Amino acid sequence: MSKISAIDCRIGFIGAGKMASALAAGMLKAGVFEPDRVSATDVSADALKAFAELTGGQIWKSPTEVLQNSDVVIIAVKPQHLPHLLTDMQSGISDNLLVISIAAGVTLNTLEKGLNNTGRLIRVMPNTPCLVGAGASGYSLGTKATAEDASLLEKLLTTVGVVRRVEESLLDAVTGLSGSGPAYVYQFIEALSDGGVRMGLPRQTATELAAQTVLGAAKMVLETGQHPGVLKDAVTSPGGTTIAGLHALENGQFRGIVMNAVQQATERSRELADH
Ligand SMILES: NC(=O)c1ccc[n+]([C@@H]2O[C@H](COP(=O)([O-])OP(=O)(O)OC[C@H]3O[C@@H](n4cnc5c(N)ncnc54)[C@H](OP(=O)(O)O)[C@@H]3O)[C@@H](O)[C@H]2O)c1
Repeated sequence: MSKISAIDCRIGFIGAGKMASALAAGMLKAGVFEPDRVSATDVSADALKAFAELTGGQIWKSPTEVLQNSDVVIIAVKPQHLPHLLTDMQSGISDNLLVISIAAGVTLNTLEKGLNNTGRLIRVMPNTPCLVGAGASGYSLGTKATAEDASLLEKLLTTVGVVRRVEESLLDAVTGLSGSGPAYVYQFIEALSDGGVRMGLPRQTATELAAQTVLGAAKMVLETGQHPGVLKDAVTSPGGTTIAGLHALENGQFRGIVMNAVQQATERSRELADH
């Protein structure tokens, strides 16, 4: 991932768990800011200790202290803890603060209301591969967030993967695709591995070959910029092995099933959301 020039702002995390640690570590590794610019608070002393050891950042006792000592605040607590936290934040919030929420399913409307329509808000839907620097995130701007805020957010999130701006109404589709998508791909890898074992390969070899094949194909799509169908045609010789395998996938309605998975997860996300 390319090196990004240092950003002169203080970033405070509320919630110092898995996602906060992954984001902070990715940003520090990319040189977006120095450790003295990152801080966090958490109700769990263990989570805070781990965060401080990982990042070298400052630790605060409360969300209010984070608000007082940050330019950008990243809310990284579980969605069920949001209502209580937003109430806690009301006394310290101001329009000088950029507040980024990564809490799944919590709408900008809920965040804005919870913070008395104060603060510049951005809602992000990240996914778990952020934990290994290969995330895929979607985001939407709140009413007061500026183009500069969007640009800053993209610089930050690019350190842990790919980020795309969408209308908030499409964040459920982002959830159905890239949010839930890693689980679909795990199943695909497991099935590829099972197929290899069925044909006599040892399990470990089959799983490693399967995972690397998915990684390699994904890199081909991203790095060549070619349509997946063009890349598929390029490896499909007449009467060969690949077209035989593809025929089996088509008979099983593979593509329709994957499309249905994205649709159903998107619809479920809409059902669960607080709007
Ligand atoms: N993990 C993912 O891949 C992923 C993907 C997409 C979106 N997200 C979103 O990212 C957010 C964080 O997820 P995570 O997996 O990083 O969760 P996590 O590891 O459980 O971290 C959240 C931390 O926040 C603490 N906390 C709870 N209430 C707090 C409060 N009022 N003030 C300060 N700290 C508080 C929790 O302490 P306790 O454990 O003691 O409650 C916990 O240590 C969630 O909203 C989730 O929807 C996560």
